[in-house]
Amino acid sequence: MRDLPLPPAPIALLAELTHRCPLSCPYCSNPLEMVAREGELDTATWARVFAEAADLGVLQLHLSGGEPVARRDLPELVEAARQAGLYVNLITSGIGLTEARLDALEAAGLDHVQLSLQGVRSGIADRIGGYKSGFDRKLEVAKSITARGLPLTLNAVMHRQNLDDLAETISFAVELGARRIEIACVQFYGWALTNRAALLPTREQVEMAKRTVAQAVQTYRGRLAIDFVPPDYYADFPKACMGGWGSTGLNVTPDGTVLPCHAAATIPHLEFQRVTEAPLAEIWQHGPAFQAFRGHDWMQEPCRSCARRDIDHGGCRCQAMALTGDASATDPVCRYSPQRPAVDALLAEIPEAEALPEFTYRR
Ligand code: SF4
Ligand code: FES
Repeated sequence: MRDLPLPPAPIALLAELTHRCPLSCPYCSNPLEMVAREGELDTATWARVFAEAADLGVLQLHLSGGEPVARRDLPELVEAARQAGLYVNLITSGIGLTEARLDALEAAGLDHVQLSLQGVRSGIADRIGGYKSGFDRKLEVAKSITARGLPLTLNAVMHRQNLDDLAETISFAVELGARRIEIACVQFYGWALTNRAALLPTREQVEMAKRTVAQAVQTYRGRLAIDFVPPDYYADFPKACMGGWGSTGLNVTPDGTVLPCHAAATIPHLEFQRVTEAPLAEIWQHGPAFQAFRGHDWMQEPCRSCARRDIDHGGCRCQAMALTGDASATDPVCRYSPQRPAVDALLAEIPEAEALPEFTYRR
């Protein structure tokens, strides 16, 4: 194994408590092979993982899924994480988050809720989420969260079919009393790749979105924090995905597999370890999957000698895998990548609105 310096402590742990979910979004980021309920870690093992994470230096815990509310032991898990000293954020669709469950989570010490938003009207939101009445339920949940004084972030996933509603989406967040909105354009790996033709926005939409966000930042300054992740297919350079592989955060899947990012399992040659096989610190510091793309030795040209290699770290490994079949290739959205013409070809083939394909839902 290469002799790399020990990485600094990760800031955040994303705990995918379950892959079970009532929604079936066409851009779902869960892996194509999901973990069944029987394969999920039990309460005690998750509690140990949270304690190990805190010892390692992790500050923030994101409880995610699937739909984490599907775990009946969610309040116990929140309590265990708080006892370990972690800041606990719940990432949820809101489905199943009854008043009684919110009471229990609040009592357990939940710090923050991040509520996903598929659209700003029931028609489109329920169509995208594949769940009837999901939007109405989400509204009730959002109101209950803010009425309790729990900080709320809306997580708006944007794409071809809802990006025109961006201004309305931002004002909706303000009306609901959210403190922050994350506007994340769909990234294309996993299930989203299957629906790319229906989800990839047009250049006009993206330019309009940038102007809308710039205006909204001025309008809502001091009332709403706005984070915007534009679709990188339109960028000249890739994003520094995960802040660099194995540098700031780690994911634990429902069966305890530890991943450097949520889509890392799409890279076939990587060797992953489970929390039941080794301590979290050992996996973070020395695990072969975490070492795979740290430093510069793994890079190919043009990244290896590029002045931006410590800025974007060569882009997203999972996107390089999805678009080129080689996870160590330069992210093909980069304008220096020899594969960039393939991305430009995709942008040139965007269908007209009338010709958009139907979503393929994961059921
Ligand atoms: Fe980033 Fe590599 Fe492109 Fe340079 S060549 S800008 S390091 S992706
Ligand atoms: Fe895996 Fe970007 S999603 S490195």
